[in-house]
Amino acid sequence: MTTPITPLIAGNWKMNGTNASLAEVRRLSELLTATPPRCTVVICPPATLLAPLNAIAAPSGIVVGGQDCHPMPSGAHTGDVSAQMIADAGAQYVIVGHSERRARYGETDDLVRGKAVAAMTAGLTPIICVGETEAERRDGKAEEIVAGQLANSVPEQIGQLGIVIAYEPVWAIGSGLTPTSDDIAQMHGTIRRLLTERYGEAGARSRILYGGSMKPANAREILDIENVNGGLVGGASLLANDFHAIISAV
Ligand code: PGA
Repeated sequence: MTTPITPLIAGNWKMNGTNASLAEVRRLSELLTATPPRCTVVICPPATLLAPLNAIAAPSGIVVGGQDCHPMPSGAHTGDVSAQMIADAGAQYVIVGHSERRARYGETDDLVRGKAVAAMTAGLTPIICVGETEAERRDGKAEEIVAGQLANSVPEQIGQLGIVIAYEPVWAIGSGLTPTSDDIAQMHGTIRRLLTERYGEAGARSRILYGGSMKPANAREILDIENVNGGLVGGASLLANDFHAIISAV
C-alpha cells in the first residue's frame, strides 16, 4: 500500500511583515501546539524575517520557506539572495516562478528552472508556480500554458526530495475570484498526469497546491478536490486566525 501524500499549506507573505508580525507567528504556534495540524505548515516571509521566524516557529513544527532565490550560489548580484543563504537561515522550501515575478521581472521558464535547480542543490524543496492569465483562460489555452510552464520550469531531475507545484491562476491571485471546483479538478488532474508521465513515482507523489484567493470560507471545498494536496495562501496567511482556519480545513 502506498502511503498517502501529506498535504502542505504554505503561506506567502509577499512583501509584508516586520518584526512586529512575529506576534502572529507566536499565536499560530500556540494554536498548532494545542491542535497539531494534519499537514505540513510552511510560512514564506520576506528574507529579512526568515531566521527570526524560524526560531519562533520551529518548536511547533512550522517550517520556513523563501519567496524567491537567485540561480547562482554566490557572486556579484547586488540585492539578490541565494538558495544557500535561504537554507542557511533555516528554510526548507523556496517559492520560485511566482506569477508576480514572472510578470513584473520578466522571469522566463528557463530562469525559473535554474532557480529550482539551485534550490534543490542547496537542499531546499522548490515550490514551482504555474498558472494562466485571464485572457489565456478565456481563449481556452489554460491547459496548454500550464503544460508549457511545467515542461520548461521543472528541472529534468527532481530527485528524492521531490518538488511542489503550485497551480495559481493569475486572475485568481489577490482578486477574491477562484475557479470552479471542476476547473481546479481538471487542471490538477492534468498536472498530475504530466508529472507522472515524466517522473514516474516521484511525479505521482509530488504535491500539487492550489493558490489564488484561498481563504477560510473556501478552503475546505478546494482542499477536498482530487489531486489538490494543499494550498499556497497569500493574503489569508498574514493573520494567525485566518491561516489557522485554512490549516484546520485539511
Ligand atoms: P492570494 O495570493 O491568496 O492573496 O490570492 C496567493 C499567492 O499569490 O501565492
